[in-house]
Amino acid sequence: MGTALAGKVVAVTGAGRGIGREIALLAAQEGAKVVVNDLGGAVDGEGGASAAPAQEVVDEIKRNGGAAVASFDSVAEPGPAANIIKTAIDAFGRIDGVVNNAGILRDRIFHRMSVVDFELVLKVHLFGSFYVSHAAARHFREQESGAFVHFTSTSGLVGNYGQANYAAAKLGITALSKSIALDMQRFNVRSNCVSPFAWSRMIGTIPTETEAEKRRVARSQTMTPAKIAPVVVFLLSDAAKDVTGQIFAVRKNEIMLMGQSRPLRAVHRGEGWTQETIAEHAMPALKASFYPLLRSQEVFNWDPV
Ligand code: NAI
Repeated sequence: MGTALAGKVVAVTGAGRGIGREIALLAAQEGAKVVVNDLGGAVDGEGGASAAPAQEVVDEIKRNGGAAVASFDSVAEPGPAANIIKTAIDAFGRIDGVVNNAGILRDRIFHRMSVVDFELVLKVHLFGSFYVSHAAARHFREQESGAFVHFTSTSGLVGNYGQANYAAAKLGITALSKSIALDMQRFNVRSNCVSPFAWSRMIGTIPTETEAEKRRVARSQTMTPAKIAPVVVFLLSDAAKDVTGQIFAVRKNEIMLMGQSRPLRAVHRGEGWTQETIAEHAMPALKASFYPLLRSQEVFNWDPV
């Protein structure tokens, strides 16, 4: 047992499986008392909810000598989301860290994406991250300490096909995190994002027919969810006291600090612009700095290290 989170109470959403489960296990191993939240749904958010995934993680933490309590609430509605934080207070008397990890996918090419596909994904990722964070913020404000870790994705930071809902939610989460970091800095509260790459059920549907596909999947399977957990535990710990408002991409043994938007290039004309001078002068000058329409996998085009 380590001591990086000794005395802290941490709530991890979507912690019944995948990355969240590894975060909950490592946080407990590092001395945190953990609220293991998971409503136990299908990857698209449909189907019967199940207490089993969260309860199994709690049982495992207890078997290892740690402290944990299960929560089966959905992050996607304000009342149940607030209940996740209430569970921490009721069981352990405080809350020190919130990990907004719960997630679903409903991928569709844009013109076929239904309103429901869009709304459900926004509800779980963006609204859920807000609801849970907002419920914890009051406690963080009062005790003048606390750390948030939110989950974003290179589908939002860079781009991907068929994920307008997920990309909008995930890029929205980076702005939510930055806003919390700015607003709560005065209360010694930190907020950061992690953009993970990990083999989980979320990406476990890649076809494996050809030898090349099989090799690619075998390589992907080495990016285990457990590789993400140490970064999250560090960000929750007091050792990260100077780290806030940042976005870290984590893939196997790589940790990357991601850029945030700044002007790339500017043009001006003393007399102002017309459509003609924009076409003749501004666009050619700016075009040299345009971003190509790349997807995440085209930017992260080297094998996980
Ligand atoms: P996963 O599907 O294995 O785990 C997500 C968990 O969230 C599931 O156990 C599910 O039951 C739970 N969940 C879903 N809706 C919920 C709700 N309303 N309330 C409470 N729990 C809910 O997925 P994975 O891969 O572990 O993803 C974790 C996070 O990392 C997600 O936010 C995902 O978007 C993000 N991410 C994952 C990547 C990857 O490569 N696996 C890539 C980029 C981002």
